[in-house]
Order: sequence, then structure tokens, then C-alpha cells
Amino acid sequence: MKIKSANFVMSNSEVSKCPNEYLPEYAFIGRSNVGKSSLINMLTERKHLAKTSGRPGKTQLINHFKINDNWFLVDLPGYGYARVSKKSKKTFQKYITNYFEQREQLVCSFVLVDIRHEPQPIDMEFMQWLGENGIPFCIIFTKADKLKPAVIMKNVHGYLQKMTEDIWEEAPDYFVTSSSKAIGRDEVLSFIDSVNEE
Ligand code: GTP
Ligand code: MG
Repeated sequence: MKIKSANFVMSNSEVSKCPNEYLPEYAFIGRSNVGKSSLINMLTERKHLAKTSGRPGKTQLINHFKINDNWFLVDLPGYGYARVSKKSKKTFQKYITNYFEQREQLVCSFVLVDIRHEPQPIDMEFMQWLGENGIPFCIIFTKADKLKPAVIMKNVHGYLQKMTEDIWEEAPDYFVTSSSKAIGRDEVLSFIDSVNEE
């Protein structure tokens, strides 16, 4: 798919104030610093569309980016960032869960996990919660440039195997990406294209 236009539309912390157009949207979620905002920039080939940072906790709101005038990418704050206070952590999580529970336009979410890490309880719990709420998701393994190809496959298979051993009957669809090397771009965009056509 060719990205002809990619425009920031709005940021907010209330699902009721998100764009009222009824267009399909794809949300990026995962631990702080996993590379959600960088991936949006890689997919759109716009370096500074979503704000990124080496320090976790950069994205704080629900951010809508309109693509090709007919679908949205949504950048969300990360979870599992230890340095936010307990209270702000609670409100933070509430509007994210509201978004997932209430946003009818959400057709698929991408749960990002760092390809170097073993399955983390916080990600497992979040995916389980998505499953229980009937919210479709895929996994995106990020930062593949940090590993050699053989280790990439070993980690991916280990990760999916652990998921199916624990709670999942079958492994979700997944993508291997690197935002710095533009790995996985065509695969993710083709997937979005196919869902948009359904
Ligand atoms: P929050 O908004 O804080 O939740 O973080 P985020 O998930 O949006 O992460 P962000 O895209 O801001 O990236 C965090 C850090 O990881 C930055 O220093 C990025 O340059 C780096 N990073 C992101 N993607 C990649 C990647 O594919 N490869 C490498 N090597 N670094 C990456
Ligand atoms: Mg971010």
C-alpha cells in the first residue's frame, strides 16, 4: 500500500472526544519505550509524525493520525512505566481501557513487544484482557535490528509457544519489525490493507 497522506488529527484523553468519523482504526499499544510511536513513523515514512523519545513515558494521550484520508493509526501511551505515580497510573489506564472497550471504529490492535525479551506478565495479562473482551489483536515484535536472524526466529517461536502453552489455543498473527531498518513495513501495511478491504 502506498501512503499518500498521513496527518495528525488530534490528541485527547477521552474516548468520547476521539474523531467522530466512522473510519477503521488500528491502535498501537505495549510497554513504554517498546517503539509504538517509532513504528507509526516507520510505517508512514514520516520521521516526526508521532513524537518519540529514548525515555519511557513520552506518549501521554490518545493520538489519531489519518492515513490516505480513509483510515486511522492510533498512538497510545505505554503501560508498565514505573515512574508515574500510582494515581496517574490509574487514570491513565482507565482511559486506555475505555478506548479499547468503547471505540467501535477499532478494528485491530497491535500489541508491541520487544523481540529481545521473554514474555512479560504485563503483556500476557493485557493480551488476555483483550481476548476476554473480544478485541482482535496481532503481536508486533519490535527492534529486530538488535538481533541476528537466527535469534529472531528462536525468540519469536519461543514467545508464541509460551503463549499457546499457557492460555491461548492458537497463536495470534504476528509481525517482526524494526523501525530503524524499516523491517516488516510491507507486511504490516498489507495486513491493514486486507482488513480495510473486508
Ligand atoms: P512511549 O510513548 O514512552 O510509551 O514509548 P514508545 O513505545 O512510543 O517508544 P518510542 O517509539 O518513543 O521509542 C523508544 C525508544 O526506542 C527510542 O529511543 C527509539 O529510537 C527506540 N526504538 C524504537 N524502535 C526501534 C527499533 O526498531 N530499533 C531500535 N534499535 N530502536 C528503536
Ligand atoms: Mg510513544
